[in-house]
Amino acid sequence: AHELLIDTDPGVDDALAILMAHAHAEVAGLSIAAGNVGLAHTVGNALRLIDVIGTDTPVFAGCPVPLVLPAADAGFVHGADGFGDTGYLRSARRAADEHAAAAIVRLARERPGRLTLVALAPLTNLALALRLDAELPSRIARLVIMGGAVTGRGNTHLVPAEFNIGFDPEAAQVVFSGWPEFDLVDWEACVRHAIAFERFDCMVAADTERARFYAAISRKARAFNQSHGRHGMVVADALAMAVALEPGIVRRAERHHIGIELAGALTRGATVVDWDDRCGHPVNARIVLDVDQTHFEAMVGAALGAPGAA
Ligand code: BDR
Ligand code: CA
Repeated sequence: AHELLIDTDPGVDDALAILMAHAHAEVAGLSIAAGNVGLAHTVGNALRLIDVIGTDTPVFAGCPVPLVLPAADAGFVHGADGFGDTGYLRSARRAADEHAAAAIVRLARERPGRLTLVALAPLTNLALALRLDAELPSRIARLVIMGGAVTGRGNTHLVPAEFNIGFDPEAAQVVFSGWPEFDLVDWEACVRHAIAFERFDCMVAADTERARFYAAISRKARAFNQSHGRHGMVVADALAMAVALEPGIVRRAERHHIGIELAGALTRGATVVDWDDRCGHPVNARIVLDVDQTHFEAMVGAALGAPGAA
């Protein structure tokens, strides 16, 4: 059975990933990063989502800022509150009294070799955890990261940078250079695996509290996706979660070294892939290129309680 530890900045697509995780696996905790919006909102959103799911998954608040340089959030996609500005009631729950980075280190020590770590946010908390415990990778069964744009078609104001990496490139550098090998679900794969709007609308129309909540918080992001010429709803973190939950869903992947650009005036935050393995650096990433779309959508549908979903 899976046991997941999810580092996340909810966030509309994070919310879908968290719903999927709770539908298909055990969740040891949510460690929360700043990213899509500020930490107060990402923590509050995680707590509210735990209410909707009706579980007791602990929520650990992490770093409010990137490691080195300040960064701009993505409130224009996710809403100023990160959950579509629906004015939902705040949760009465509180985050646990332990920093997210410390919680990652502790949970990995308590459950050696059992956790799949799913990173759906800027890598600030993970970088700190790795600095707290250099042996962390040996205690984690598998790391799946949503981040990067492997051929340079990102989604931030710097063309090649994807949001999670571009928000905190130094943290990404710590993780990419310090973790032996991880699965990477990059932004471009997520765009290729967008869910057609019609299918998405059907799924969120399910008669469950989860689907109603998700329909409300995703409305703005759906409009953003449509007005930006996408062929469907890009739910990046949900695709990474599907890969974490069902490794067999991957149809094609390639293993290469990926470096992080820290200095470039036009390219800071780029994920530079050595596609031809020319530079002699060890492989650090398995890049997921193709996923079984039908299976992926069935997992999303099941998480929302859509009828007929697997
Ligand atoms: C990633 O950035 C965030 O805006 C999303 O939640 C996702 O994790 C996509 O680039
Ligand atoms: Ca995210």
